[in-house]
Amino acid sequence: MRLFIKNIKKLVNVREEIPSAPLRGNEMLSLPCMDGAWLLTEDDRIVRFGRMQDTAGEALEAMEIAADEVIDAEGRMVFPSYCDSHTHLVYAGSREMEFMDKLRGLSYQEIARRGGGILNSVELLHNTSEDELLRQTLVRAWEIISQGTGAVEIKSGYGLTVEDEMKMLRVARRVEEETPLKVRTTFLGAHAVPARYKGNRAGYVDEIVRDMIPAVAAEGLADYVDIFVEEGFFSVEDACRIFETAAKYGMVPKVHANQMSFSGGVQVGVRYGAVSVDHLEFTGPEEFNALQDSGTIATLLPGATFFLDMDYPKAKDMLGYDLPLAIASNYNPGSCPSGDMKFMMALAMIKMRLTPETVLNAATVNGAFAMGVAADYGCIAPGKKASLFITKMIPSYEFVPYSFTSQLIDTIILNGKKY
Ligand code: NIG
Repeated sequence: MRLFIKNIKKLVNVREEIPSAPLRGNEMLSLPCMDGAWLLTEDDRIVRFGRMQDTAGEALEAMEIAADEVIDAEGRMVFPSYCDSHTHLVYAGSREMEFMDKLRGLSYQEIARRGGGILNSVELLHNTSEDELLRQTLVRAWEIISQGTGAVEIKSGYGLTVEDEMKMLRVARRVEEETPLKVRTTFLGAHAVPARYKGNRAGYVDEIVRDMIPAVAAEGLADYVDIFVEEGFFSVEDACRIFETAAKYGMVPKVHANQMSFSGGVQVGVRYGAVSVDHLEFTGPEEFNALQDSGTIATLLPGATFFLDMDYPKAKDMLGYDLPLAIASNYNPGSCPSGDMKFMMALAMIKMRLTPETVLNAATVNGAFAMGVAADYGCIAPGKKASLFITKMIPSYEFVPYSFTSQLIDTIILNGKKY
């Protein structure tokens, strides 16, 4: 199957060479683009691209004739699909009543202490069959596809028993079978202490390292392991135990770090070679120094900061420390019931004063690195997966985060197929 797209006003985030490492600091400020372009795909890959005016008429004609389908972009833009590297896409039901509690003044932690929050979703998920869970998740999966996402990381963490954690991860894997999304999965057994271990967190961590990690690994259900390092949830010591066991099974760490306090989550993530540390509302020079010489990506989740009405991470300072930033949606029923990457980018610009170039790089190239799919996804380059979208008529790429609630996508192409 060959697809030829012509008359593209601008190919956004187009690179002759695939970046070999996440973009850091000032590198994030530049967004390579090509004006007046064409693009050729074959099967699921991008083959090549070029400028209309630099390409001989006969060559353009030959590509057009050889193509199975020709799309005349008529001056619309082409972007690489978003790579959303932090989501909790698999969950049952919803938690809008807690949203009301929050508006009445209860904090996220207070709701959790009353047995609500994550434990509320745990109960809902326990009472939902695997097929029904898949059905509910697929609605969200197609929703994020329609919003431009092409690759997504999905965590467990609403099971908290061996069976239910595996049920979640199986559903996450089935999302990849049932949709054109590229999916990477993360085992997050240490998301909250379940009711049966109330007052005995160490006992639950024992169960995670003794039973859960080996069972998840035996079925090859998780690429990464994650933990919520936070007062009232899990400690740095718990993270060490979990990461040491997970390493024996080849699971690379990610961390829910420094969301509600200076929890040490960043430092423990760096110490164990985490691919990313995510959230980072409570960070400063100590955390930035720890990250500076590491390969760990600082992942911002502005949708959760917004929904919980908190202060935003100091993202510009992070760039000053030459850190690599990713932006992800954190789609989940408690702190961010949205997977709209365009909205996340807009928030990052408005609330953290990042540039459009920075947020687009953070949501594509660096998002791909933060979920281990950068060889195939994250920008437009020869040999990459043909996962991209064609916009409606828009004046500039800045218009995308600027026009933050408008549906601006005209055509979605994932793995070389039109949706
Ligand atoms: O990333 N902070 C922990 N986990 C999620 C929220 C999960 C929930 O409230 O259901 C987050 O914000």
